[in-house]
This record gives sequence, structure tokens and C-alpha cells, in this order.
Amino acid sequence: MIYIKSASEIDKIRRSSRLASRTLDYVGTVIAPGMTTMKLDQLINRYITSNGAVPATLGYKGFPASSCISINDTVVHGIPDQRAIKDGDIVKVDVTTILDGYFGDTCRTYKVGNVPPNASALADAAYESMMLGIATVSNGSFLGDIGFAIQSHVEPKGFSVVRDFVGHGVGKEFHESPSVPHFGRKGAGVKLKNGMTITIEPMINEGGWQVKTLADGWTAVTVDGKLSAQFEHTLLVDGDAAEILTVSG
Ligand code: MF3
Ligand code: CO
Ligand code: CO
Repeated sequence: MIYIKSASEIDKIRRSSRLASRTLDYVGTVIAPGMTTMKLDQLINRYITSNGAVPATLGYKGFPASSCISINDTVVHGIPDQRAIKDGDIVKVDVTTILDGYFGDTCRTYKVGNVPPNASALADAAYESMMLGIATVSNGSFLGDIGFAIQSHVEPKGFSVVRDFVGHGVGKEFHESPSVPHFGRKGAGVKLKNGMTITIEPMINEGGWQVKTLADGWTAVTVDGKLSAQFEHTLLVDGDAAEILTVSG
């Protein structure tokens, strides 16, 4: 069942989403070579909680931290630990806030220091593909339109779209229906309607799309050891466009 949110629910999702986005703005001001991912996670926890919200990942299905921090060939769900961020790394930071009971979910890829051209191009392609996916969204568009737009942008560059993880409905719960694949065919799948709130969060790999999960049960890495990049927005289906809810300000 796909929830259609009321105006007051949308307002709460918008406020939570803005806080999540501001948290990632803050991450951009503190992330630096030498910082451990655990230190960065502590700063994220402090930022979210001091703004009256709860970090949704902390304790979610046993996840032990306030953010997912995934470096280079780690695709998603990296667990913050004593690893230090290095100059030249691409670092995905994914935060989800619960404010007044409602969820906002967003991720960015940070280019730390002097990032090699291939890594920089991958991060740019991931961002562009997310925005192109978002641009397809309207009242009456199809989920398949999103995936088609994303694939059409990145595959001609030699990059691939991860299959094993998808976007999702979000708002009242962390992960709601529908699943939002980042690959697909135009006109296929669920029809979007005004008042739906979903994420689009393409994970784009430099090499093959295959991923594997490490023994910790969370950390997903590329099978070929090549890089991966991701961006995520929470958005509202609103008439002839999407309103991006995870914006700052
Ligand atoms: N924020 C992730 C998403 O975009 C989910 C992380 S769940 C966790 O859906 F348990 F790994 F934190
Ligand atoms: Co998400
Ligand atoms: Co997320």
C-alpha cells in the first residue's frame, strides 16, 4: 500500500527533510582528511539531536550508528569506525532524520581533497542521474521513467547502476512502498500520484553493478573493487513536477 500524505504530514516530512539536508551541509564544512568516520558520525549525531530530531539509522534493524559512511568501493551502509578519511577519497554520507515523527532521507558523495578525475566524473554522473530521474516525476508519471532516465545517463559513460538497493517510499516510516529501482523501462511499473513521498538514490558504479555484503552484515562493496558514488533526495510528487524536500534553508 502506498500512502498518500496529507498537507500536514507533508509539512512535517518537509521539515525533517530540510534538517537532514542541513546536516549534510554541515558535514561538508567538517569532513577532512585524517578524520575518522566514527568522529564524523559523532558530529552528525550531535547536529541532529541538538536540532530536536532523532537519527533514524541508530538501532534500525541493529545498525549501530547515526549515519552510513561509505568510502570509495563501499557502495552503501558503511558502518562508521576508526578508519580515517584520506585525501582523494570519495565519501558517501547518508543521513536520515526523524523530526516530529516524520522521516527525511538524503545522501551526498563528498570529494575529499584532491580526487582523481575518474572518481570526480563518477560522482558528477551520479548526481546528474539523480536529478534526471527526479525531472521525470509528475502526477501520472511511472516509476520506470525514473530508472530509464538514470540508466540512459550513466551507461553510455561506461558506468553501471546498482540493482540490489533501491529508493523507496518514505515519510511516516523509514522504508515504505513503493520500491524505486534506478533501472527500468519508460512507462513501466507503478504510476506516481500527488501526495506520494519517495526517495531517488542511485548508486552508480565505475565498473560492474555487482555488489556483495561483508561479514558484518551491512557493508556493501563492489565485487570488482572499483568505485561507487551515490546521491539521494526525498521528494514529493506535486502536479507536473517533484518538489525536492531535502533542500537546505
Ligand atoms: N538511509 C538508507 C536509505 O537511503 C538506509 C540506511 S539503513 C541502515 O534507505 F540501517 F543501514 F542505516
Ligand atoms: Co533512502
Ligand atoms: Co538514505
